[in-house]
Amino acid sequence: MAFLQLQALCKRYGPVDAVVATDLSVEKGEFVSLLGPSGCGKTTTLQMIAGFVDVSAGRILLDGRDITHAKPASRGLGVVFQSYALFPHMTVRDNVAFGLKMRKVAAADVQRRVSRVLELVRLDQHAERYPRELSGGQRQRVALARALVIEPPVLLLDEPLSNLDANLREEMQFEIRRIQREVGITTLMVTHDQAEALSISDRVVVMQAGRITQIDEPYKLYEHPRTRFISGFVGKANLLQGDRDHGGTAHVRQQQGDGELILSLRPEKIDLVEAGEGRLQGRIVTRYFLGSQWLYRVETSIGELTVVRRNNGDAPFNEGTAVGLDWSTELLRVLTADEVSA
Ligand SMILES: Nc1ncnc2c1ncn2[C@@H]1O[C@H](COP(=O)(O)OP(=O)(O)O)[C@@H](O)[C@H]1O
Ligand SMILES: [Mg+2]
Repeated sequence: MAFLQLQALCKRYGPVDAVVATDLSVEKGEFVSLLGPSGCGKTTTLQMIAGFVDVSAGRILLDGRDITHAKPASRGLGVVFQSYALFPHMTVRDNVAFGLKMRKVAAADVQRRVSRVLELVRLDQHAERYPRELSGGQRQRVALARALVIEPPVLLLDEPLSNLDANLREEMQFEIRRIQREVGITTLMVTHDQAEALSISDRVVVMQAGRITQIDEPYKLYEHPRTRFISGFVGKANLLQGDRDHGGTAHVRQQQGDGELILSLRPEKIDLVEAGEGRLQGRIVTRYFLGSQWLYRVETSIGELTVVRRNNGDAPFNEGTAVGLDWSTELLRVLTADEVSA
């Protein structure tokens, strides 16, 4: 049986259905992200698991035990919120020790456990500093250490990196993953950032308007988004009209007008070839330099398409250049219409 289980979990705030009949199983040691736009019910779900928000209907099971109505303290879960609210008047060491002292852990054990967890988050050199003497990333590590030190069965992270700037954010993503792997702790992270969810999770749960709409491993989610919304929310996508041939294979409709299918084709799956070659003819309208890649907007008879090519050091296509566009048919994804409006 899964370590953490949500069964038909619901939360209503008056007329608002914040979370609707959510089923989710998380295995022991797994890192799962809840991904979705603002207001889709991610925080509410996490808060119900933590015990800070009452459940309207459904059940939460932890290691087979029903904790749906258990007090937060008795669940003993590690929680890190967006605003990680450290005690400003306490040193790093005391901030981390606080939870253990509250639990009446013996002083010698407190010292030992705090030192070990500070080493884990690489803050052992800063143990005597105060929060105001730390960078954003370091404060984030203190919050993580504070949650981990109680050795919780599950770690709950709510947008833990949203206060950090882009570079630090990326670094901390890998750091969180390293720590999670080292400790082997079952982790549920909430984020609205698809890149963050894809890069560090074992599985990603996409939520829309209180409902789960897809659960998959990151690569699978990116390569096989189920719906139109997901294809645009997770990565970039060209949405194209398509038809099936007699053998049932999906093809891009080559002229304007509605086809029987909606197809998604990722920008990096399109090749730019000599004008006159490929499946479709176009002209480069604009190009953007992204460092490791060039992003092209290409005008074609079926609309403007986004194409991303790796920057391999060669000269890029100039704006105005006539090009051919090519792709392999098996990279087209057939999408279903969105079942919920987000
Ligand atoms: N305490 C509350 N009272 C009333 N409505 C709430 C409350 N908390 C959240 N909501 C509503 O529930 C929905 C989901 O919110 P939330 O879980 O915070 O979304 P997310 O974390 O995905 O941005 C939103 O429509 C939000 O306005
Ligand atoms: Mg939230």
